[in-house]
Amino acid sequence: MSLEDKLNKLEQMRSEAKLGGGQKRIDAQHKKGKLTARERIELFVDPNSFEEFDMFVTHRATDFGLGEQKFLGDGVVTGCATVNGRKVFLFSQDFTVFGGSLSEAHAEKICKVMDMAMKVGAPVIGLNDSGGARIQEGVVSLGGYADIFLRNTLASGVVPQISVILGPCAGGAVYSPAITDFVFMTKGTSYMFVTGPNVVKTVTHEEVSSEDLGGAMVHATKSGVCHFPCENEADAITRLKRLLEYLPQNNLEDPPFIETDDPADREEQILNRIVPESPNQPYDIKDVINNVVDQGSFFEVHEEFAQNIVVGFARLGGRSIGIIANQPAVMAGVLDINSSAKGARFIRFCDCFNIPILTFEDVPGFLPGTDQEHNGIIKHGAMLLYAYCEATVPKVTVITRKAYGGAYDVMNSKHVRGDMNYAWPTAEIAVMGPKGAVEIIFRKEISDALDAEAEVQKMTDDYRDKFANPFIAAARGYVDDVIEPKSTRPRLIRAFEMLETKKDSNPAKKHGNIPL
Ligand code: HXC
Repeated sequence: MSLEDKLNKLEQMRSEAKLGGGQKRIDAQHKKGKLTARERIELFVDPNSFEEFDMFVTHRATDFGLGEQKFLGDGVVTGCATVNGRKVFLFSQDFTVFGGSLSEAHAEKICKVMDMAMKVGAPVIGLNDSGGARIQEGVVSLGGYADIFLRNTLASGVVPQISVILGPCAGGAVYSPAITDFVFMTKGTSYMFVTGPNVVKTVTHEEVSSEDLGGAMVHATKSGVCHFPCENEADAITRLKRLLEYLPQNNLEDPPFIETDDPADREEQILNRIVPESPNQPYDIKDVINNVVDQGSFFEVHEEFAQNIVVGFARLGGRSIGIIANQPAVMAGVLDINSSAKGARFIRFCDCFNIPILTFEDVPGFLPGTDQEHNGIIKHGAMLLYAYCEATVPKVTVITRKAYGGAYDVMNSKHVRGDMNYAWPTAEIAVMGPKGAVEIIFRKEISDALDAEAEVQKMTDDYRDKFANPFIAAARGYVDDVIEPKSTRPRLIRAFEMLETKKDSNPAKKHGNIPL
């Protein structure tokens, strides 16, 4: 064979690999409103930057007629590329080849990019669209999954791992995305469940559609598995690219600095009026966040889940930060099981990847009730507390209003290594809300009073004047300064600048035992 023939053969094989499971199946994929594995990569990465690995890999199975059915690449496209000039490793499952199902060879390809990403120190992005374990291969395929799970776990906290679910993700296959740091899903075309609607019907007699069992909105609002429910694939890729802008390549790097036109000394009068006079009136903490951070830089994570706490990335003076904020506009910002878990996981991500943490605090405490107690508010609250205590990145807090009870301690107080803790003059830092406090400590006086209601009101006002302010905490140095709300942005920029070279560590250990 001449060199020219050999080159032609190579070209022909490349074209064959690029066709995946063939034009008919590609058309079927498009008909479902889905892109192919390669179209997704094209949408995601910088033009001409994709370096593909293992294009000629095929499976080795022979049972059930598989020996005669081989597709170059075996149902997953893998490789390295740049996204906005920064390196990423990726795999994109090809539903047109055996439904994107995972064979031994398919798993080996994924493991290879993950191993490379760990050596090089770059994020791993998985574009998932798969019918699960390649049924014809049996246990070999299950082994392949386990090989991936192990790598997901070992890579956790070393390089960012992001899963984008763009089709089925069922059975044990869900556990790889679940271990990764962030999960995107597309509405209407993706679903995740451990057991599908048919098994559910057999076992529990419930009738439920795939969408209602494990669609994007279900996982975004109820289980919290999905951080970003997306309108379609293009939306998912756009948001994925935005997320990457806030993250470092690995745990030894700092997150990228992005120059901003927003002045560091910008003051916002509106912040002076944002907290309502009545302590029980809500306001939207996102208004505070958006007025403080670099214009347009707030990128919310887990927006639909446990909305009583808000988490997300932003930039302050060009620096990437993670924000955790109680949301007084939802359930008065109370901490419950879901909001504690949401906050804890986000804090741990930031701490793994050197992203400083900013906390806005307005919290009346933990949510009371049998439902919360029986389902573990103790351990979930402890998880949030543990995450804050353990974090060694720069940690700054702004108490805008209520910092009551245990929640005062938990929400990055000075005592759990908050580096700079500010309070607005509207802050109320106390063991509990004034009314609850007087009803306990003056129970006898109230029951003896002629007009109990008036007595409670008077005592509540006295208590508020005396304790529900920031100055008692400030007198002890539990807050470093009481600041005028309008000056929050400049003060925070200066604080994070000061803390830029902060070094702190935890005692040497194998790992801690966070209350899961
Ligand atoms: C081999 C598979 C496959 C699989 C789909 N295909 N899933 N081949 N192994 N797991 C093939 C089909 O035979 C078909 O081949 C093509 O992919 C497209 O599948 P369709 O059924 O035509 O597509 P659709 O109607 O869109 O349905 C998609 C689906 C369905 C919902 C994913 O295919 C399905 O239910 N598949 C089985 C899912 C499953 O039970 N997986 C095992 C889960 S347990 P042709 O040649 O016609 O194109 C698991 C354990 C993991 O994953 C354990 C880890 C710990």
